[in-house]
Amino acid sequence: MSTRPDARLSTPAGTPTRPPYRHVTENCFAEMIGDGGLTGETYRAVLAETAPAFEAIRAWHKDGSRPFVRLPERRDDLPAIEAAAARLRESFETVVVLGTGGSSLGGRTLTTVCQPTFGTVPRRARVRFVENVESRLLDDLVRGLDLKRTAFIVVSKSGRTVETLAQFLVCLAAMRRTIEPKRLGEHVLVITEPGTSPLRRLAEHERFEIIDHDPALGGRFSALSVVGLLPAVIAGLDATATREGAAAVLRETLAASEPGASAPAVGAAINVAMHRHKGIAQTVLMPYGDSLSPFSLWYRQLWAESLGKDGKGTTPINSIGTVDQHSQLQLYLAGPADKLYTFVTVDCAGTGMVIPSAEGLGGEIDWLTGRTMGDLMSASQRATWKTLVKRGRPVRLIRLPVLDARAMGAMMMHFMLETVVAAHLFGVEPFDQPAVEAGKVLARRYMERVTPRPS
Ligand code: PA5
Repeated sequence: MSTRPDARLSTPAGTPTRPPYRHVTENCFAEMIGDGGLTGETYRAVLAETAPAFEAIRAWHKDGSRPFVRLPERRDDLPAIEAAAARLRESFETVVVLGTGGSSLGGRTLTTVCQPTFGTVPRRARVRFVENVESRLLDDLVRGLDLKRTAFIVVSKSGRTVETLAQFLVCLAAMRRTIEPKRLGEHVLVITEPGTSPLRRLAEHERFEIIDHDPALGGRFSALSVVGLLPAVIAGLDATATREGAAAVLRETLAASEPGASAPAVGAAINVAMHRHKGIAQTVLMPYGDSLSPFSLWYRQLWAESLGKDGKGTTPINSIGTVDQHSQLQLYLAGPADKLYTFVTVDCAGTGMVIPSAEGLGGEIDWLTGRTMGDLMSASQRATWKTLVKRGRPVRLIRLPVLDARAMGAMMMHFMLETVVAAHLFGVEPFDQPAVEAGKVLARRYMERVTPRPS
């Protein structure tokens, strides 16, 4: 068997039923990069261990017990998401999403890909995400936004996350000072699971619109549900295309006759084999372009919170090209050989503005003139991963022909599946995060010691 699984996994771009990316893994193997790479034997042994994970994924798909593998094929929930998005998009200038972790990063990822970075958005509310409890951030929000033209989507699966509740309570108080009581409800939409949480009780008491968060859907696996889709649809995301992209990846894994036919299983096996046999303790995700910056944060949370248990897991590092070529690359090339690199590249050669010449430049950068911004991005990403490979560092590529809704759905599904397969290989439960509870209890104790002030 070849030690280069990418040959079988290469997916022609634009084929509707196939995943819209190529998963290129050849530079993770010894025959390409020498000692830093895996041998075919070690890789195949780990890959073979993924078989039970396929059984679990197929069972979840069949019985619906893990809805993240049902979402790609669902369409029945999209009209309600699109209707809510249309109302908020058309009625407001700004939509602020309050939430944290899995209740924010999926939506932020999808929104960033479709919302223009600069300027106003014609006939469409600008979507902003507030995750932190920094006083200055909240002060700026309350003072800087016209609250009469602002809506809030409050997302908390549990309805008990103190950061989100505190954010909402200060924003709600500010809204009450500005908006007439009978109009307040138009400005708030809450996404939370059914039950008796503080957020749910408050929303019911105030008669705010509530969309149920599926209780069986974990926060960091909720990106393709209303949690991730609603903000992004406001910003212009095609939700159906996103789900179609995810479905193409899911189908490939469900139908795989052997683990090597599933790109997520191949990715998980490479990550875990690198950890076991090559001392790789860190996994770097380096997408190219600021549009994908939140994507690397989303991935970081997914990988860290799902796998970091019982002394196991590897540390995810978020990076962004080309920016971090001027920040982290020195370490990546000449620091410890303890990292696996995943580059997410978009085929962008020939796209974007042409770089003009200018008088007084001299001839030093003639090679830049007349080429496009996309040419520069394309050359930079290629040069960087090739330089790493020359240094014997393991690099895999996720190559996207275009960065669109379908590609985003596909990549998010890829990494959710890769994470659960890796969890199986590490022998950990991917869907909980028990260790963080202790810190929450302590923070509450510290808060109880503070003397309350009048609000
Ligand atoms: O992935 C997870 O489960 C967490 O990161 C949660 O999303 C995060 O803690 C926020 O929780 P909640 O949605 O209950 O406010």
